[in-house]
Amino acid sequence: MPLENPFQDPLRFERRVPESTVVIFGANGDLTKRKLIPALYRLAYDRRLAAGFAVIGTSRTALSDDQFREKMLEAVKQFSEDTEFDEDVWRAFAAGLYYVAGDINDAGFYDKLAGKLKQVDGERATGGNALFYLSTQPSQYGRAAQGIGGAGMNRGAGWRRLVVEKPFGRNLETARALSDELHRVFQESDVYRIDHYLGKETVQNILAFRFGNGIFEPLWSRNYIEHVQITGAESIGVEGRGAYYQEAGALADMIQNHLLQVMATIAMEPSASFRADSVRDERSKLLRSIRPMTADEIRRDTVPGQYGAARIGGEDVPGFRQEPGVGAESRTDTYAAVAFFCENWRWAGVPFYLRTGKRLPKRVTEIAIQFKPAPLAMFDGDAPASAPNLLIVRIQPEEGISLKFLSKRPGAGMRLRPVSMDFNYGSSFGERSPSAYETLLLDAIVGDATLYTRQDMVEASWRVVEPIENVWRETSYDFPNYAAGSWGPAASDAMLARRGHTWRKP
Ligand code: BG6
Repeated sequence: MPLENPFQDPLRFERRVPESTVVIFGANGDLTKRKLIPALYRLAYDRRLAAGFAVIGTSRTALSDDQFREKMLEAVKQFSEDTEFDEDVWRAFAAGLYYVAGDINDAGFYDKLAGKLKQVDGERATGGNALFYLSTQPSQYGRAAQGIGGAGMNRGAGWRRLVVEKPFGRNLETARALSDELHRVFQESDVYRIDHYLGKETVQNILAFRFGNGIFEPLWSRNYIEHVQITGAESIGVEGRGAYYQEAGALADMIQNHLLQVMATIAMEPSASFRADSVRDERSKLLRSIRPMTADEIRRDTVPGQYGAARIGGEDVPGFRQEPGVGAESRTDTYAAVAFFCENWRWAGVPFYLRTGKRLPKRVTEIAIQFKPAPLAMFDGDAPASAPNLLIVRIQPEEGISLKFLSKRPGAGMRLRPVSMDFNYGSSFGERSPSAYETLLLDAIVGDATLYTRQDMVEASWRVVEPIENVWRETSYDFPNYAAGSWGPAASDAMLARRGHTWRKP
């Protein structure tokens, strides 16, 4: 009899995709046209959706079903970067697109929506299943959930689920209040908090890399690892999102969610199975093991930054304070670097340096794991400590993994040089990777929450991020403190230098 494989989770491997309606709140917004509809179209193109499938878009703008279809057609043509447009696939997909105009604050709107949902369920045979996707202003999440519940849409002949986009609160207290509001209508297991980084192929591959191979686990601890750097760098500025960004800042926009989830994935304990709650329990445990810092530690082990104007490639680039929607005195961080420490046996004493920023020299997201040096430098004239063994997991672009080590240079003598062994996703598999939204939308429809953030993880992240925000708010920094197009403030290099480390230039 074959042994039962604990990693064989029927949800993630068999993927029986059920019939369903996806109801998008904020359907006239950017996310819908740039990400959600192109992702759903691609799933249709790949024949991954059930025959009984529909989308109901809602927003305040008055549109007919046909006008909505027209708009979504433009969106698919403009934003489906690597999917060819197929007239037949589009026609079949567009027949399942519907629209209801209404105001989230108006109780009458929800009855209208419930009527439409019923009608669409009958016309498209969607099995009574519905996924509500909140892509609105975060301040409206609570009201939308109450409205859905008030009109009885949180229950039906099939399953009912709710997807919410970040931010999940602005601190621990508001994150809890939001979750209480959502829980009045949906139970936690039906709330899918999306963190699109977890849907990226390369982030998922971290699990395969760590737990599908036997050779890394013995090295994966404080015994062999000196420190870990997680970089989420962007070359763009705030791109017209100045008003939102001014309220959020880099720490809340990228570290509280995306980079801490990446850290949890690289540092978590192996889970007993690949079932959603097993994996999420381990991620959550890791996040809860991160030590919240005292005010003194925050002053030493965190660095906020804000970019100033610069000339890049012959072009004048404005500073953050000159961006549209941003105040001339804004104290918002567009760069954030933090040294986190986990209080557990595996990682005690190992710094996890996380940094993110807008207007850095390039767009790159990567994890660099630096191993401890060889105990003896036995080769004259070479200093292995200056070329440490590094394992680099590139999340984007040019997704891949490389290992850097020293090798003997050809010729006489024992002269060493760093070399690198590379695995490149694109050339090894030669096939397209699904976008994070394709993966995550399909997961939510199938009912697989493995890659979604649970409330306890949101709270664990705020527990370590909120004290930092508080200290930053009370301290006056000399902003701007890095030039657009540079690798961030000098204080960030100094923060690593204190422990004898340096940031990698990816
Ligand atoms: C979003 C942030 O969550 O992630 C943006 O709000 C950021 O500010 C974006 O640009 C980065 O995502 P990606 O997938 O382009 O790395």
